[in-house]
Amino acid sequence: MDFNRVIDRRNSECIKWNRFDEDVLPMWVADTDFKCSDAVISALHERVNHGIFGYGAPPRELNQTVVQRIKRLYDWDVAESEIGYIPGIVTGFNAAIRAFCEAGEAVIYQTPAYPPFIGAPKSARLRGVQNPLPQQQDGTYTLDFDRFEQQLISENVRAFILCNPQNPTGRVFTREELTQLAEICLRHKVLIISDEIHCDILYDGHKHIPIASLSPEIAANTITFMAPSKTYNIAGLHASVYIIQNPELMEKFHDFCSGLVGCPGVLALTAAYAAYAEGDAWLIEQNRYLQENRDFLDEALRTQLTGIHWNKPEATFLGWLDCSELGLAEAPYEFFLREARVGLNEGLTFGPQCRDFVRFNFGTTRANMQEAVDRMQAALAAR
Ligand SMILES: Cc1ncc(COP(=O)(O)O)c(C=O)c1O
Repeated sequence: MDFNRVIDRRNSECIKWNRFDEDVLPMWVADTDFKCSDAVISALHERVNHGIFGYGAPPRELNQTVVQRIKRLYDWDVAESEIGYIPGIVTGFNAAIRAFCEAGEAVIYQTPAYPPFIGAPKSARLRGVQNPLPQQQDGTYTLDFDRFEQQLISENVRAFILCNPQNPTGRVFTREELTQLAEICLRHKVLIISDEIHCDILYDGHKHIPIASLSPEIAANTITFMAPSKTYNIAGLHASVYIIQNPELMEKFHDFCSGLVGCPGVLALTAAYAAYAEGDAWLIEQNRYLQENRDFLDEALRTQLTGIHWNKPEATFLGWLDCSELGLAEAPYEFFLREARVGLNEGLTFGPQCRDFVRFNFGTTRANMQEAVDRMQAALAAR
């Protein structure tokens, strides 16, 4: 697999490359510019050649593959009856808070937050509560357990949307951190909705720990979402997995989704199965390339983009760049878009304290990385 290969994504119904003017290099929304594995592409060809696209149903082999993969990669025992499929994780957590929260209750999430976390409680007419992740002197993002617990009590919180690995900071939470968060939630009867979409893109030997795998009590209080979408670059096909080990929660979630949220389409199921069943070797190569991209950006922040800092991500292909030291008069998103013609994600969409941040998607070719960094450096030098 040649991850350096440049593929023109304009005019391919692609949000990333069509949002900005043609001269802007898009480094924003979280998909990659890499072609899928041959396994996924030939499975899709074969399915298309079949020629009939009636209503779909997840094949038994997909269930078995998901269950075996979760055991193999995360040492978590899950039964086939404890998994289900939805067309997206954003759909999933929006459905979950509507299924489990009542009017007047609140949903907590950590900031900086993946923007749809911020929108979800609002659109469900629930209150959103933000629990900021404090930064240590060296920039490492940590957790504020005391404040988290206080907020659960004082804000009438019913559900916690966790993002692990965390978008946008790239933190992989440790077993101890996850255990403490889960125990606080158990103490206050707060449901955990765990968005683990980035669970397969980890660096430096970091291991993903599904929060529900920590104990049977935690499993009974958790809804987990995973997907092949980020991992294998098939997000536009829309197949995601949920895992619910508490039958009561499963029934309630099914009841809520019934008639509202359908099964992923047949091509999505085909791609998901091929990716999960045959994607291990491709994924190892992709993660190696992404780790080199991350290290490339780390070096660039020390040499070409001095004054911009980050907490080197342990996971995800997203860099959360702190531009506050640059002292720009405007939001760095605006500055880099206009002056560098680089399209990043805007800090403020991740939380009210994030004006001086941008999110940089390094899931692209090394050539695009270099181009984006060069353009940003030149824009800063010309100020
Ligand atoms: C944390 C997180 N959750 C969910 C999604 C999107 O999930 P889906 O496309 O399955 O709705 C993203 C995409 O960037 C994400 O970063």
